[in-house]
Amino acid sequence: MIIAVDGPAASGKGTLAQGLARHYGLPHLDTGLLYRAVGLKVRDAVDTSAFEASAIAAARSLDAAHLTDLEQLTSADASILASKVAVIAEVRTALRQFQRDFAAQPGGAVIDGRDIGTVVCPEADVKLFIEADSKARMERRARQFEQKGQVVDRYALYHQIEERDARDRANPHGGFYPAPDAHLLDTTRLDIEAALRAAVAIVDGAMTLKSKP
Ligand code: C5P
Repeated sequence: MIIAVDGPAASGKGTLAQGLARHYGLPHLDTGLLYRAVGLKVRDAVDTSAFEASAIAAARSLDAAHLTDLEQLTSADASILASKVAVIAEVRTALRQFQRDFAAQPGGAVIDGRDIGTVVCPEADVKLFIEADSKARMERRARQFEQKGQVVDRYALYHQIEERDARDRANPHGGFYPAPDAHLLDTTRLDIEAALRAAVAIVDGAMTLKSKP
């Protein structure tokens, strides 16, 4: 079974995808980490003409070993860099194969990102599109940073999230919209347990429907 979980920054899709993976005993891939890893690799080239070529080369040579330093990968810097490399078509093409190979494992996988249901795995068995209003998303991300002992400027963080959303939604190569067969789940007023229960109910319902002749 392949479960695609898409949604904007800090919508809770990663936590939900992890919970679904645990619930169904499936491997999980957070595809944001791939873009973040490429972004970090080309950090020094960001304001130069070499940026695009460096990002494409980094995406083509990316492997699982680059996805282990979660401290760096989940930093605010990495998220901005990620959304800058994510608009380069060749970067997306190079990372797509990595994601498809992961999905092709026997038994399936849970994959979260922006374009999983639309571009990476349009054949996924169940597609979820997670939403939450911008303020709720900012607050969740702020708490994650605070738990790591970081001081958070909520005003700046809110604008950072909005700016990243706008860049992601306008990305002509992005595929960042709900697939026509995606199930929408708004988590603004749900805590993580309630959101996971709702997601499991959607997946179980979709799989039951699929199994009917
Ligand atoms: O999901 P996360 O916030 O970690 O993603 C970081 C950035 O990577 C996003 O803002 C987006 O620009 C890019 N991304 C993408 N497609 C994906 C996953 C992430 O374009 N499937």
